[in-house]
Amino acid sequence: MMRDDMERILLSEEEIRSRIRELGAEITADYAGKEPLFVGVLKGSFVFMADLIRSVDLPCGMDFMVVSSYGKGTKTTGAVKIVKDLSQDIEDRDVVIVEDILDTGVTLSYLTRYLSNRNPASITIATLLDKPERRRAAVQAKYVGFTVPDAFVVGYGLDYAETYRNLPYIGILKPSVYGGK
Ligand code: PRP
Repeated sequence: MMRDDMERILLSEEEIRSRIRELGAEITADYAGKEPLFVGVLKGSFVFMADLIRSVDLPCGMDFMVVSSYGKGTKTTGAVKIVKDLSQDIEDRDVVIVEDILDTGVTLSYLTRYLSNRNPASITIATLLDKPERRRAAVQAKYVGFTVPDAFVVGYGLDYAETYRNLPYIGILKPSVYGGK
């Protein structure tokens, strides 16, 4: 039924799995001798986070934040509300923010500044998907799974109206599903 809502599969389960293994190996090499703290931004990141940390062969910590952005896609200035903050101190920690998608960049540019004020040793961003065409706020992710076109993508943590997060692949939704053309 949900498969019928897809225009096409953009990234298969296998493609995602193999790319995440590469990202995990890269992070493992980059953070050798360190104990990074992975910060997942809920909800979208939870599936990616679960797979990514299992591809990292290092001692590491993890924590989660819940954020919500106002006027998504419309405003030029990004007001981001922190719904749930970290539950630990990040001073002197090597923080890796984990996101499912970097879209306008409003969320991550705000979050990076917000967490930088707490004096971590370093902050980098790992995002499964990057949609550079949509960027409005300057933000650079060090680890990018896939660069994707400006299409309505769902699955593997990403939702449309809170549905489709459980799909094991990333698909492009049929415009008819969300009332588009
Ligand atoms: C998505 C995604 C990022 C944000 C990226 O979250 O997880 O947090 O949007 O968009 P931006 O680059 O334009 O700021 P969303 O608000 O859809 O919430 P969710 O994670 O609960 O699905």
